[in-house]
Amino acid sequence: MLYCDAMLKQVLEQGREAADAALERLLPPAVQHPTSIHQAMRHSVFAGGKRLRPILCMEAGRMIGAASAAGPLAGSLPAGIEQVGAALEMLHTYSLIHDDLPALDNDDLRRGRPTCHKAFGEAIAILAGDALQTQAYEVLAQIECPPEARVAIIREIAHATGTIDGMLGGQVVDLEAEHKKPDLATLEYIHRSKTAALITASVVSGGIYAGAMYTGATSADIARLRTYGQSIGLAFQIVDDVLDLTQTSEQLGKTAGKDAAAEKTTYPALFGIEESIRKADALVDRACAELNEYGSAASTLKDLARFLVERKK
Ligand code: IPE
Ligand code: IPE
Ligand code: MG
Ligand code: MG
Ligand code: MG
Repeated sequence: MLYCDAMLKQVLEQGREAADAALERLLPPAVQHPTSIHQAMRHSVFAGGKRLRPILCMEAGRMIGAASAAGPLAGSLPAGIEQVGAALEMLHTYSLIHDDLPALDNDDLRRGRPTCHKAFGEAIAILAGDALQTQAYEVLAQIECPPEARVAIIREIAHATGTIDGMLGGQVVDLEAEHKKPDLATLEYIHRSKTAALITASVVSGGIYAGAMYTGATSADIARLRTYGQSIGLAFQIVDDVLDLTQTSEQLGKTAGKDAAAEKTTYPALFGIEESIRKADALVDRACAELNEYGSAASTLKDLARFLVERKK
């Protein structure tokens, strides 16, 4: 069933617009010297990504804001939170540029365009990924929340993209598990680390930011957001694995069927497509249950969780 609620559509569209406007402002212009790298960064960033990490960050911020701010502010986005979202998208795009390199997944197509190394060469693609990472932290160092929250957000995101249970650790094990018989412990480690960690950090950093801008998020709020993020993050990568098998390259904007060709450790490889989808659905139920406390303020995050598993690209 395709989830197509008008409200959710609006959240996705407005979130994408807010993230894109912040990215446009916060990335060096294409004409900035040395132009090749700035063009390469923009080629990959402005290529039609879904912007889910910024949207999750902003909507987590909106929910915590609604829970802690009374009166006219309730339900609005905390001022400046889109900058956190833009930094998350820079880090995500850096991970995609490097994921596509010949030494990693060796992909030619990304977000409906030639991959960064296909368009700009391998050296500039490596450097463009590096540059998106450093730019993200320059942006995070300047976000408009109190300094303790700023440091907490930087620490959260740096850890989530690092080698210990973070994105880089997951990418290492993903590559080392190629052409091996998949086992559940390795599979869970890969998916929780390479993908769920940054998605979790997106939600948690939105909560920390909003908490600091209003009356404070409690440690229970952050723990609930963390559990929600871990569950939807794992569901997200399960669905990514399923879509790799069930959709066309044209539909995905990236090469379909790559996981089986590289004998990757994926959920469908271990459980088959039907059971993988059931597991993703169960994770979404778990994520949504975690937010019941927040009543109607949680409805957007719950809708987003369902969208993540019902998406077709
Ligand atoms: C793709 O992420 C890489 C994974 C972590 C599975 P997305 O599906 O969010 O890709 P974009 O940002 O929309 O291109
Ligand atoms: C990518 O996993 C995870 C990161 C980029 C960190 P995949 O290799 O499955 O992502 P796609 O399918 O190429 O987008
Ligand atoms: Mg990969
Ligand atoms: Mg890949
Ligand atoms: Mg994939």
